[in-house]
Amino acid sequence: MISQNEIIHDDCIKVLKTFSDNSFDLIFADPPYNLQLPKNKKLIRADGSEVIPVSDSWDKFESYEEYDIFTENWIKECQRILKPTGTIWIMGMYHNIFRVGKIMQDLGLWFLNDVIWVKIDAMPNFNGRRFTNNHETLIWAVKNKNCKNYTFNNEFLKQMNNGLQMKDTDWIFKICKGRERLKDGNGIKAHPTQKPLKLIQQVLLSASRKGDLVLDPFMGSGTTAIVAKALGRNWVGIEKEKKYVDLANMRIKKYTEQAR
Ligand SMILES: C[S@@+](CC[C@H](N)C(=O)[O-])C[C@H]1O[C@@H](n2cnc3c(N)ncnc32)[C@H](O)[C@@H]1O
Repeated sequence: MISQNEIIHDDCIKVLKTFSDNSFDLIFADPPYNLQLPKNKKLIRADGSEVIPVSDSWDKFESYEEYDIFTENWIKECQRILKPTGTIWIMGMYHNIFRVGKIMQDLGLWFLNDVIWVKIDAMPNFNGRRFTNNHETLIWAVKNKNCKNYTFNNEFLKQMNNGLQMKDTDWIFKICKGRERLKDGNGIKAHPTQKPLKLIQQVLLSASRKGDLVLDPFMGSGTTAIVAKALGRNWVGIEKEKKYVDLANMRIKKYTEQAR
């Protein structure tokens, strides 16, 4: 029996193995990016302030091989526990999404779309040596090639789009900032990679129904839980860092109190 609407504080690979086959209606995963930032290199904005990149230990892997093994292990389990009517969304950037995509295809997951989240207010490339990296990719897939009856709320999306088919795979949303962005007591980002609520809302509205069970194996600041709760979906989150489990639980509690 899966305890729903809770965050499990542990390593997701260990936890995923405990779930039964075909248990979840939708899996949303925002895994480590494996950014591989050069050591001691500072990024400075035009105004002289320093950019604080994702430098947490959860994002560090010794090699591509180590990252691939980790990635295959958690995706393999997600594939097993995803219902044949369910879908999985995995998001990432150019650092990791191509490796993630190859692993997904090698495991037999079947791609439905790759959605591009266009970040209209992305951080510019400060030293002008390449283009601004202004998007992330979400791969949307089913368990295998034979899964045809997956949830896609085409009619609902059409109604929300003035009666026209919602056909765009480029989704334009601002990055998470302002009041939505969680900060610590010193005004510093409480989680380095908090995603916008609207992005995950679009995922859940497109591919899940009320009462469905949604899994996020990399829960971070709890964005998926907030959206799932607001939309009447049940959810399970996994997060290995205690400080983020606490942050997400506080956020969920605050949201619940406000929603009353
Ligand atoms: C990219 S962030 C997810 C951010 C989240 N979508 C949000 O909006 O806050 C990835 C998260 O996964 C967690 N994590 C990394 N490796 C993990 C693992 N093996 N098991 C569980 N959580 C893990 C990290 O601590 C981090 O909070």
